[in-house]
Amino acid sequence: MATAFPPLENDLLLRAARGEAVERAPVWVMRQAGRYLPEFRKVRESHEFFEVCRTPELATLVTLQPIERYTGLLDASIIFSDILVIPQAMGMEVQMNPGPHFPEPLVTPEDVNKLSPVVDVNKELGYVFEAITMTRKELKGRVPLIGFCGAPWTLFAYMIEGGGSKGFQKAKTWIFRYPEESKALLLRIADVCVDFLVGQVKAGAQLLQVFDSWASELSPHDFKLFTFPTLQRIAEGVRSRLVAEKLPVVPMTCFAKGANHSLGLLAEHGGYDVLGLDWCIEPAEARRIVGDKVTLQGNMDPILLYGGRDAIESAVKRMSEGFNSSGGGWIANLGHGITPGVDPEDLRWFLECVHKYSKRA
Ligand code: CP3
Repeated sequence: MATAFPPLENDLLLRAARGEAVERAPVWVMRQAGRYLPEFRKVRESHEFFEVCRTPELATLVTLQPIERYTGLLDASIIFSDILVIPQAMGMEVQMNPGPHFPEPLVTPEDVNKLSPVVDVNKELGYVFEAITMTRKELKGRVPLIGFCGAPWTLFAYMIEGGGSKGFQKAKTWIFRYPEESKALLLRIADVCVDFLVGQVKAGAQLLQVFDSWASELSPHDFKLFTFPTLQRIAEGVRSRLVAEKLPVVPMTCFAKGANHSLGLLAEHGGYDVLGLDWCIEPAEARRIVGDKVTLQGNMDPILLYGGRDAIESAVKRMSEGFNSSGGGWIANLGHGITPGVDPEDLRWFLECVHKYSKRA
């Protein structure tokens, strides 16, 4: 990539992701650019959700909002986009009203023929790459920029359910009734994920995160059979392409929400540098399971942000002691995305508490 970016001033996130020693835990928050911020809601008053994603100037503007509001407190930015841009690139229509809605979900394996046979990510998702390059410039080296995509199982679930779901009956019926067709579609999505993530690094992303938000819906057995191979394929595929194309081999994070049963498998064979944790596991227990192979990210319950300053402070203190006393790399975050009703000043308090309690001697 010919683009020269301003030098990085804060590399705490990248050092922690590589398992290097850090003076305190780097901190960022999933969905840090979002509806809890009045400045974000203001932009959304006059622009539709996917319009913001597709307009590099707007995506850059909202990506920078939390960085500017919380000066010096956030150690990473994450590009404003959505995991559902991949199903769109594969030819499906997706609306956001206010949650995701697919007017024509996949009903039977024959419907897979309606998807674009080949996906040119530069053509379909070039707007994300442009937003990344523009954001890298505007960040002026303040913090690194994270790129991301949805994991194949989570995208498959949306493409079949047609939106959010309680029991994922339709998507799970597919994997049980049509296991081979399901595996083929999952791998096809994985290949788009690889192209998309490599393109994001080319455009300037400095760390990549794969969100498997609905990993929680599968038994350990089915996680291993249907989602794990695709997560592995993405890590291996991205790394080998980055090496082959002489691009920076950036750290990669896998957040398989609710799949704490498979942390050992992910640490041993997943191929990721960082594993994201939800709040349903103690930090020391997670560290015991993964050994010293990976950095851990997380994991405060996002609803604690409604609990008041004292509750936030004691939770951050406990979390910091748990991660710091069990060794290994740690990136502080919530255990899932921040929700729209949080008072932005309570998030500031969370960030300040992480700075205070995560210091390492
Ligand atoms: O983290 C960030 O700040 C970067 C931007 C980002 C968004 N979505 C913006 C967004 C990221 C990383 C995502 C990922 C995403 N999108 C996931 C994985 C993470 C997770 O939360 O599990 C999922 C499952 C989606 C799908 C999605 N997009 C849903 C279910 C919804 C609606 C419900 C909700 O949580 O808001 C969205 C919409 C969405 N994506 C919003 C934002 C800021 C809110 C929509 C709005 O502006 O009206």
